[in-house]
Order: sequence, then C-alpha cells, then structure tokens
Amino acid sequence: VTETVSVALGDRSYDVKIGSGLLAQAGHLIAPLLRRKRVAIVTDLTVAMLPHLEALRASLEAASIEYNTVVLPAGEATKSFAELERLCDALLELEVERGDLVIALGGGVIGDIAGLASGLLKRGIDFVQIPTTLLAQVDSSVGGKTAINAKAGKNLVGLFNQPRLVIADTNLLDTLPKRELLAGYAEVVKYGLIGDRPFFEWLEVNGQKLLDGDKDARVRAVQVSCAAKARIVEADERETNLRALLNLGHTFGHALEAATGYGDRLIHGEGVSIGMALAFELSARLGLATRQDSERVTRHLKSVGLPTTIREIKGLPLDTATIISHMTHDKKAKGGKLTFILARGIGDAFVTSDVAMEKVRDVLTA
Ligand SMILES: NC(=O)c1ccc[n+]([C@@H]2O[C@H](COP(=O)([O-])OP(=O)(O)OC[C@H]3O[C@@H](n4cnc5c(N)ncnc54)[C@H](O)[C@@H]3O)[C@@H](O)[C@H]2O)c1
Ligand SMILES: [Zn+2]
Repeated sequence: VTETVSVALGDRSYDVKIGSGLLAQAGHLIAPLLRRKRVAIVTDLTVAMLPHLEALRASLEAASIEYNTVVLPAGEATKSFAELERLCDALLELEVERGDLVIALGGGVIGDIAGLASGLLKRGIDFVQIPTTLLAQVDSSVGGKTAINAKAGKNLVGLFNQPRLVIADTNLLDTLPKRELLAGYAEVVKYGLIGDRPFFEWLEVNGQKLLDGDKDARVRAVQVSCAAKARIVEADERETNLRALLNLGHTFGHALEAATGYGDRLIHGEGVSIGMALAFELSARLGLATRQDSERVTRHLKSVGLPTTIREIKGLPLDTATIISHMTHDKKAKGGKLTFILARGIGDAFVTSDVAMEKVRDVLTA
C-alpha cells in the first residue's frame, strides 16, 4: 500500500508518497510532472554505490524517461558554496532547462543542496525529493527549506523552495547504518512530543520494531511524521512562529553540535535526542510538565539506544559555559533572545523566548 500525505500550499501544493518498494514506481509517479521526458538525478557517492540508484534508473527507463546523473561527495561538507557551484555548472552542462526536473536522491544533504540549486538555476527548475535516510523521509524532504552552510554557520544560505513531489520508499532504509537510522528516529519521536501523545505512546510499543525493520511500522511512522510536519508547514511556511515547534530539542541540540564541531562525535539526531530530554527536564523544573512525563521521554529515547545526557558524548567533557556561549551565539541574529520549545507535557509543546538563563544553566550543569 502507498500512503499519501498532501502538503497544501496553494499552487505550490504537492504530495508525499510513502510506501515500501515505492522506488520501482518512481518513473510512473514522476512522468506526469514532466514537460519532456528528461530528468537530472543528483545523488551522493555513498548512495550511488548502493542498489538504489540503479533501481531509480530502471524505474525511469520503464517510464521511457531519459536521465543524467550528477554524483556529489557524501557528507555535511558537501553543503558548501564550492559544491553548489559545481552542481549548478554540472546541471547547466547537461543543458537542464526550465520545465525540466531535478531528482534529489539521498539524505538531507543532497535534498538541501539539490533543492537550492534547483531554485537558483534559470530562476527555478522543478525538483522531486527521493529521501534515502530516515531523517530525510520524516523531516528534511518535506517543507521546502533548502540551504548550504556558510562560514558563519549552518544553513545560512538558502531558499524556501517546495518540491513538486516527495517519494519516500521505506525499503531504502534497509541499507542505512544503525547510527543514522537512530538519529532519524529522534526526529520521529519529536513529532509525538510536539503534538501527538498517542503517537508517542504508539512509538513506545512499536519504535523498536520500526528500528528492527518492520515494514508496516516504518510506513506508519513516516506517514504520521510527514503529516505532522505538513500541517505545521501549511500553517506557517516561512517560520514566523508555529513552525519553530519543529525545533523542539534543537536549541540545545544545535549548541551541542556546534560545541562538538558538527562531526562524528555527535550527529544531528543524537544532539536532538539529548536536546529533547533537556527540554523536558527544563519544562519539569519550570513546573510546566510533570516529572513523570519528563522521565518517560528520557526512558523511551534511552530504550532504543539514543543518548539523553551530555555526559554520553564521547571525547573531552563539554562545560556549561561553552554550551551556553554556542546557544547565545546561534541566536544573536534574533535580537539576543533565545527561543526555546518547552512542553506542558508529552504532545503539548509551545514556543517561548521567556526562559531565565539561570534555569537553563542549572539543567545543563545537572
Ligand atoms: N531542509 C530541512 O528542512 C532540513 C531538516 C532537517 C535536516 N536538514 C539537513 O539534513 C542534513 C542531514 O540529513 P541526513 O541525516 O539525511 O544526512 P546525509 O544526507 O549526510 O546522510 C547521512 C549519511 O547516510 C548516507 N546515506 C544516505 N542514504 C543512505 C542509505 N539509504 N543507505 C546507506 N547510507 C545512506 C549518506 O551518504 C551520508 O553519508 C543536514 O545537513 C541538515 O541540516 C534539513
Ligand atoms: Zn532536526
């Protein structure tokens, strides 16, 4: 079965198709979007070595769609001006025209840079996301944020640019390293914590099954996650307020990522996992959420193998002052006010910039 989540944004509306084995239908799903039967596939070297690229090509061939492939290096460093230039030049070399279509086959890195290049080339070429990581399937492929990194920080050069279609084939996750899968799972849990307590409770029962490869559980989790993100993006596409809810755990998480150099010590979803545990701890200390809820969040994240404390980060210990300085640096642009996503309980998060730094310091130190 294929599940469909619609993202309703007027003339920029699109569907997210979710299913196991869906890649085989990609050609037929994409064909109606084409003016001429030609596409450019953008992927990274790791994904290009997996059977997924071949499967996509076969599916395009079955729909008589011609394709060229641009392969970028794998990893966060690819979200750079240098690689963006290389990608744009490569697509121009292929004589990609307006009305043509770019397919981003990969994780959030490929989705972000290919989505940005598509928005820039000839002032806008359509693109389709075929996310291959759990993080990309539940988060980055939906919502239209695209960006590369700059010297001053992550994701600072980008566009809001919605895809024409998202095809999430949960079978592609079979080749994903366990650590990447778990990191993406943190974002799945996030949707339960933000606004869907029953989904969190479902994850308590089914989360491990999903991580172990259960097909139905994967499709369900991706569907619920995409639907939650779609509703938030529909309400606030350009993040004037509500969309910030998606940053639950990210104020702490980003600071921890920055403090560890955005590298192998701590990958994004792991930072988010610790950040969500801290956000609930802070919420409990402020008397907003119950202790039970805060402990329940930590217990579930721990039970699947995600980190929930700063102590678990390998390498030199991180001190509170360093983390706070990264938090405040991150938000300087926003008038010096730190935005936090706190919760009145599991499934009841809200955005606030009214948190005493003293309390934040206490939580980090504890
Ligand atoms: N645009 C948004 O709204 C948004 C939201 C969240 C995150 N992001 C961005 O997404 C990026 C992180 O995404 P990610 O975690 O997908 O990282 P990623 O794209 O780097 O993928 C992680 C690793 O897994 C490999 N990989 C991808 N698919 C695979 C598969 N099926 N099997 C085996 N290996 C596979 C990749 O080559 C890479 O080495 C960050 O740059 C972040 O800023 C964007
Ligand atoms: Zn995230």
